[in-house]
Amino acid sequence: MTSVVNSNNISGLIQRTLNHVDPRLVDHGKRVAYLVSRMLETSGEYSEKEKQDIFFLALLHDVGAYKTEEINEMAKFETVDIWEHSIYGYLFLYHLSPLREWADVILYHHISADHLDGVAERIAKVAQVVNLADRVDMFWLHHPHREALNQYLNRSRGSRFRSEIVDLFMETQQNYHVIEDLNAAADLKKVMPDVVLSAEECEDYLKMMIFAIDFRSQHTVTHTITTTSISSSTAHLMGMNEKQVRHIYYGALLHDLGKIGIPVEILEFPGKLSPQAMKIMRTHVNITEEILAGTITPDITKIAIRHHEKLDGSGYPRGMRGDEMSMEEQVVAVADIVSALLGTRSYKEAYSKEKTLSILEEQASNGKINSQIVSIIRENFDDILAEVKDKCTPILRTYYGLQKEYEVLLEKHRGITG
Ligand SMILES: [Fe+2]
Ligand SMILES: [Fe+2]
Ligand SMILES: [Fe+2]
Repeated sequence: MTSVVNSNNISGLIQRTLNHVDPRLVDHGKRVAYLVSRMLETSGEYSEKEKQDIFFLALLHDVGAYKTEEINEMAKFETVDIWEHSIYGYLFLYHLSPLREWADVILYHHISADHLDGVAERIAKVAQVVNLADRVDMFWLHHPHREALNQYLNRSRGSRFRSEIVDLFMETQQNYHVIEDLNAAADLKKVMPDVVLSAEECEDYLKMMIFAIDFRSQHTVTHTITTTSISSSTAHLMGMNEKQVRHIYYGALLHDLGKIGIPVEILEFPGKLSPQAMKIMRTHVNITEEILAGTITPDITKIAIRHHEKLDGSGYPRGMRGDEMSMEEQVVAVADIVSALLGTRSYKEAYSKEKTLSILEEQASNGKINSQIVSIIRENFDDILAEVKDKCTPILRTYYGLQKEYEVLLEKHRGITG
């Protein structure tokens, strides 16, 4: 079984996806990941696997700030209101990423050494490394002077940072001249540890990026999960082979990834979009294409980026015609419509089975979507929906549970200052 993504390009995919939310945060994440990985290297205490996991963790350490929309106030969320992005980042990494065992590091990445009592040593140490790397990057951004940086670090010795962590940084600086070389982090491939991720890990990162769309729009995540379930069930019912089913699964999973680059006001607009807003909304397909380019198998990429094409050429972005589209592409295009009709939005109730089917049949008879696929969905509608419920409920429960957990953790930690 070949993987749809591999270690060589998953970091590129993560970068390109998050760049669409805010490139400044990605750049900060890359520099912190670079500093952290060189510090771990210098310490000599970490296995290859640990170094690789912590590298990704450091890259994503501020991922919670995408959610809390504090990006414009980086100096503030990194120093004063530290908890919102730390808690959301922790929850995201714990529940929705392959880095669960390190998620606590994110929770404590702004906590002073003297407030880390009771935190497991393995976590506390990495939290200190990330904390220091983070401060060094922020400091250097505003005061690029070695002397001033040394003074700052020595002042923080024994309070904010453990003495041994400051020493570790000094030694790393001696070994690698990391400060002078911070911009090298722009090319992640050069600074990344030699990663060999398993197929499962790569796919977990891919799923993590799907959940990242939530930074912009929660209902898009629900829609994506529903579309994926409907597409997979339909593919099975049509007797497609394992490879086709697999391609359909990933194509559906990735089909709206580009929505991460669409402004929230448009994604969450409670009604019909104006023509200008619609034009922007439609670019989500081009964004998906740009993010996936060269990373994901072409067959899967095509399934993802053709879900708004219609058989009669009236779709977008390319206005392709039916004979140019594979059956897999057509399945996801229909499943996307079904999922949208069945979904609830602030301005629309979920459509009934009858209404959903009559809209599908109308589109099929107008030559816009494949009538064979529509028949299969009509004949198996209840089973397909039962499957949606089975597959989606646990995922969505975890996902909506995050919000509650967020409130609890915020209440618990709010009083503690970094
Ligand atoms: Fe942070
Ligand atoms: Fe940070
Ligand atoms: Fe779409």
